[in-house]
Amino acid sequence: MAKKEKKKQSKRYDHLSEMARITRLMKEMYERGQSALCEVRNSVIHGRGVYAACDIEKETQVIEYLGEYIDKDESEKRAWDQAAKAEESGDAAVYIFTLDKKWDIDGNVPWNDARLINHSCEPNCEAWIEEDQIFIYALRDIKEGEELTFDYGFDIECYEDHPCLCGTESCVGYIVSREQWPQLKEKLSDKNALQAS
Ligand SMILES: C[S@@+](CC[C@H](N)C(=O)[O-])C[C@H]1O[C@@H](n2cnc3c(N)ncnc32)[C@H](O)[C@@H]1O
Ligand SMILES: [Zn+2]
Repeated sequence: MAKKEKKKQSKRYDHLSEMARITRLMKEMYERGQSALCEVRNSVIHGRGVYAACDIEKETQVIEYLGEYIDKDESEKRAWDQAAKAEESGDAAVYIFTLDKKWDIDGNVPWNDARLINHSCEPNCEAWIEEDQIFIYALRDIKEGEELTFDYGFDIECYEDHPCLCGTESCVGYIVSREQWPQLKEKLSDKNALQAS
């Protein structure tokens, strides 16, 4: 075989083995992003959600929250992009989790099923950071078929942009972190008083 043709063929093999490596990695990520304990279904709260596929005991590690590791500059840039998109479409999905002082995880990747977990004012799950990974744990015993939820912990600042449809008895009407509920309740009662006057 001519030297030139040989070189061409070896380049083709390089591409093929790189593609095989990427396909293998993607398969691994998709497997890691799923859990036998839960499944994705249409949600009664919003869009798609994640449901318990069997009874889950309190404190069980349910699923990993996977994503891309990004530094704080990139994270801020993406947060602004997301806010701009949200203004256009009215949909404000936020997938960025704070990991530590240096790094965040952007969970907006298709192999991360946990990104579809909705918020609730009475959540049955919680996200825990372990070293450089994020896992979703059951906060209490969960029955098969229950939708999995956690507290998004959103700041009160733009609460009106995030109405809550969790439908639980303790729902405060907006996706706002539990620590800020007293402030939110005050704001809402002032608003009601103003409207009534
Ligand atoms: C990370 S996504 C969760 C998955 C989402 N259900 C989907 O189908 O893409 C977050 C978005 O889901 C919606 N969402 C989550 N929990 C909600 C709730 N309790 N009430 C209303 N909307 C909710 C909001 O639009 C939020 O920005
Ligand atoms: Zn709610």
